[in-house]
Amino acid sequence: MAAKQPLSDVEDGLLAHLNANAEIPDSRSFASSLGVPHKDVEDVIKRLTAFRIVEMQDITKETWVLTDEAKGYAARGSPEVQLVAAIPPEGASKGALKERLGDVFDIGMKAAAKNKWIGFEKGNKDLVLRKVEDTRDELQEQLRRLENGEVIADKVIDDLKRRKLVTKEKSIWYSLKKGPEFVAKRKTLATDVTREHLKSGDWKDLEFKDYNYGAQGQPIAIGYSQPLLEVREAIQNIFLEMGFSEMPTNMYVESSFWNFDALFQPQQHPARDSHDTFFLKAPATTTQLPDDYLEKVKQVHQSGGHGSKGYGYDWKRDEAEKNLLRTHTTAVSTRMLYKLAQEKTFAPKRYYSIDRVFRNEAVDRTHLAEFHQIEGLICDYGLTLGDLIGVLEDFFSRLGMSKLRFKPAYNPYTEPSMEIFSYHDGLKKWVEIGNSGMFRPEMLLPMGLPEGVNVIAWGLSLERPTMILYGIDNIRDLFGPKVL
Ligand code: PHE
Repeated sequence: MAAKQPLSDVEDGLLAHLNANAEIPDSRSFASSLGVPHKDVEDVIKRLTAFRIVEMQDITKETWVLTDEAKGYAARGSPEVQLVAAIPPEGASKGALKERLGDVFDIGMKAAAKNKWIGFEKGNKDLVLRKVEDTRDELQEQLRRLENGEVIADKVIDDLKRRKLVTKEKSIWYSLKKGPEFVAKRKTLATDVTREHLKSGDWKDLEFKDYNYGAQGQPIAIGYSQPLLEVREAIQNIFLEMGFSEMPTNMYVESSFWNFDALFQPQQHPARDSHDTFFLKAPATTTQLPDDYLEKVKQVHQSGGHGSKGYGYDWKRDEAEKNLLRTHTTAVSTRMLYKLAQEKTFAPKRYYSIDRVFRNEAVDRTHLAEFHQIEGLICDYGLTLGDLIGVLEDFFSRLGMSKLRFKPAYNPYTEPSMEIFSYHDGLKKWVEIGNSGMFRPEMLLPMGLPEGVNVIAWGLSLERPTMILYGIDNIRDLFGPKVL
């Protein structure tokens, strides 16, 4: 077997040929003149075309190629000729011929009989006699001509097709001419300055390859992003596109005051029970609460105001001072709204946050004692429930949930309140995805927000949509010690 030519030799040969002849009309015959596979020439052409050293044009042709069976006949002769050649002057039995010729026997018998090249002795159908001296192997000749790429008459092709000896194949080769950057020989460009280059001083004369600033870095073989982080980022981008800015959520420990009282949540509300809330042992209480505001919150709980009757119970500061792990990020929204209310002039705002909250719940397939809450709010003059529905439809449709339904609900701090359901195409049912509402005046007015300013808000867990999007049915596969 001839040693494989390196591609650089093929390249040199091709450029030298183009330099002398201006064009190469057919890359296939060029490849056979060099004695290399067409694929090698093709690789070189593509490389040189990229540098505009050559210009190429595709030549697409459908050609007939030999089947494996036909390749055997081209090499060893047609079945009929092989058969005739195997018959000695005195004739041979079918059994003996079959043994010698194998698969070729049956086909050879048929074709040879048709050509009247064989006959049988009277009364002995088993002895095959040869009736011709010399047989020209026309089939073998045709197959060989086809193999060499010669033109064959349509009638012959039809015949070969019928015998399933040829199939049609699409092949591409190229015609070439010099490109605008043509060179008779390509310089090899240096990629690095080596110690040897420096020592010998030949770096001065080297031509260096350009840096490819667009090249991608090596993919890192380990480390994958957590699904929660992926979805978190997607949701964060949606909020940012909708003009929301992020609230600071770095306080996991909150006082009951900001988590419950400021939200007009009565002190005997069941959510405040240690069954639902983690309270802190140390420090068990906070001393840093804004006294003025605290007084107003106390008032509204005890006796109402701003058109409300309040809850009519004895509000206790001790209860409000209890530290806990925040049960919702609405505590953060409350702090932000209070801060906003302290500004000299009111300006409308859109806020969001995505961070961890804690609830003392029994852990099962869909519940953990901590999860991530997504929270959004808009405050402005004259907002309505219609605005809330519109914003929710916009927000969730960006998440790919465009079929929404709303169900009246109850939260101590919102009125009206709505649970949000989305139609899940996979599960073919409506699933609850969040909670929403308009913050009550009993919450907003004691803060000092101007009359007429409304706040529409909603919250949902990050885990829920992530489990839906990633088809995860056990929350422990998503978050916790089992997840690497
Ligand atoms: N805080 C609510 C919850 O924990 C979510 C919510 C936020 C509801 C804002 C209404 C308004 O589910």
